[in-house]
Amino acid sequence: MKCMWKRSLRRWLCMGLLAGMCMSAVGCSKVDNSEPASQDGAAAAPSPSTEPEASPTPEATPEAMPPIYEVPEAEAVLGTRLCEHYQGYFTVGTCISSSMLGNEKLEKLVLEQFNTVTCENEMKPDALLNQMACISQNEVVVMFPKRATDILDWAKEHDLKVRGHVLVWHSQTPDWFFKEGFQNNGALVSKEVMLSRMESYIKQVIEYCDTNYPGLVYVWDVVNEAFEDGSGEYRNSYWYQILGEDFIRYAFEYARKYASPETKLFYNDFNCYIDQKQTAIMTVVKELISLGLIDGVGMQSHLDVDYPSVDNYTRTLERFSKLGIEVQITELDVTTTGNDEASFQKQGEYYDKLFQIISIYEKLGSTNITGLTLWGVSDIYSWRSSQYPLLFDAALEPKPAYYGVLQEKQEQ
Ligand code: G3I
Repeated sequence: MKCMWKRSLRRWLCMGLLAGMCMSAVGCSKVDNSEPASQDGAAAAPSPSTEPEASPTPEATPEAMPPIYEVPEAEAVLGTRLCEHYQGYFTVGTCISSSMLGNEKLEKLVLEQFNTVTCENEMKPDALLNQMACISQNEVVVMFPKRATDILDWAKEHDLKVRGHVLVWHSQTPDWFFKEGFQNNGALVSKEVMLSRMESYIKQVIEYCDTNYPGLVYVWDVVNEAFEDGSGEYRNSYWYQILGEDFIRYAFEYARKYASPETKLFYNDFNCYIDQKQTAIMTVVKELISLGLIDGVGMQSHLDVDYPSVDNYTRTLERFSKLGIEVQITELDVTTTGNDEASFQKQGEYYDKLFQIISIYEKLGSTNITGLTLWGVSDIYSWRSSQYPLLFDAALEPKPAYYGVLQEKQEQ
């Protein structure tokens, strides 16, 4: 009972805070929340494609406001399964790598907690493109390696849905794919040749999955990380250099052409809460919506306990949801400063507050989150393992972060 009382008190505090924010959202505040909040003075957040930088200075969080109306109590915890707890709101998944298969305890934990998976690296262009075959056949040749089909077979066997990650990206896509003759030192190909290669790649990848694993891959990250953090300018990738700004539209047109009608097509990026980048993403997403080419936006969500504030992050979820499309949290992790109890407690409180607000926004209809993916199961397998960002520790035991996501107190 004591545990329940604490939880209710904490929930009221959070609801008060949220109610204050909802006041502003429903016009009770002079602050116009329709525009991305400026990031004056906020240091640049870690960029996932490079080693995370030191945690930036935390922003001030708004003072708690008195609750103005009853906010529905969060559902009682349905069970210890993350995906069960959020059943009816959004799927809960994790990324896995082929090296994790065969680890019985890890497999059991994934099957117990999650209902979707993402291949961490096995379905990226550098895993699927075969240079020798491309050169010898003088055309794009896609080959799914065993490390990819092992995961797809496992997911199919255990009735897990798969997030297709990723079709068009500047990273983990071999340079030779953009070169004459697929040669390492060739000149960049023409726009016409690159469009043909982009279409062939997307066609082969999607059709391989739909033919061999019908219905398994329910969403594709069609384009990943097209914009620079600070400026919101287009990243100067080979895709951009050869095809210009339209490479995003071309990618979605080809994905829409070859994907089954029920497959969802997403744009995916990180640090979406940074003003200029958010504006750039919103602009291209609105164009894709007008063309009927996009179903949702993926917010990767590589966060830190000190940045961004939960309020800034959740306001971004709201803004994307207001576009009338799906939002998915596609690569969630929250770095912390150490692997001591105090650090893990602070991390747990960040996850708890985040999911308190997400739960209430979902109940209020302020957000349209359809999927949540943690970017890994255990800290030791994380791409940011030295900062302990996930819900389970090296022994696959739940951390305070796990209870934070479930919004329940860890039994002492
Ligand atoms: O497979 C090779 C192996 O043969 C080699 O011995 C080893 C040492 O060099 O490298 C292995 O490849 C590594 C690969 O992960 C598979 O483990 C790459 O070096 C390493 O860079 C790669 O890191 C991945 C990173 O994307 C690359 O950008 C991370 O695992 C993966 O978690 C991370 O995920 C990305 C998302 O796809 C997109 N959003 C950002 C996120 C974090 O960067």
